[in-house]
Amino acid sequence: GDVAVLVPAAGAGVRLGPGIPKALRELAGEPLLVHAVRRLGAAPSVGQIVVAAPAGDVEAVRELLAPVAAVDVVAGGASRQASVAAALRAADASLGIVLVHDAARALTPPDMIERVAAAVRSGLPAVIPVLPVVDTIKQVDDAGRVVGTVDRAVLRAVQTPQGFLRAVLVAAHEAAVDEHTDDAGLAEKLGVPVHTVPGDEVAMKITRPLDLRIAAALLTS
Ligand code: C5P
Repeated sequence: GDVAVLVPAAGAGVRLGPGIPKALRELAGEPLLVHAVRRLGAAPSVGQIVVAAPAGDVEAVRELLAPVAAVDVVAGGASRQASVAAALRAADASLGIVLVHDAARALTPPDMIERVAAAVRSGLPAVIPVLPVVDTIKQVDDAGRVVGTVDRAVLRAVQTPQGFLRAVLVAAHEAAVDEHTDDAGLAEKLGVPVHTVPGDEVAMKITRPLDLRIAAALLTS
């Protein structure tokens, strides 16, 4: 494989309930991170997986993932962006394509991982998987009153993995001055063209209790 995948899983997270780091919450008896890493390991292009874990959990996460796939585990940083940067420093520099993947997208199919990697391999510097927006989207003011309707035809919901030529992601993180919720946002800041490929509804972000129920149903169907 010519692809390194970085998995920022170092957040404490509170959305599914307090206590356990989000990536370690369980779906069908296994942490989301285990589900995500299993699918990354099944993608033929993937040559290295680097997980950023909470600093105090590095050894535990290493043990958790050892039976699942060959994984390098490093301590994450104070933000998602810092955790991605830490994982990037641990990535093998000979792997020319780097993907960044959220563990919460635990059911992301290996073929979608391949689709993103193939698009970068074809010469695109930055690639994100997207879905059309199905809901009507309104812009509102502070009082919650509608200011306008956004044309959803020009909008896309963004998933992960996001894929980059290694040099592009390195440059994007070196140039970063403020926090971004995704790595493509950093590349956009640099003026790097970001292309899209079709995402997959199965790659949904599993963050709320309803998502867990849907994901559990998907696993048994
Ligand atoms: O909390 P939030 O939704 O922003 O987290 C997004 C992802 O970034 C999660 O997978 C979380 O584990 C990760 N993260 C991280 N290091 C942090 C904060 C969040 O790796 N310091």
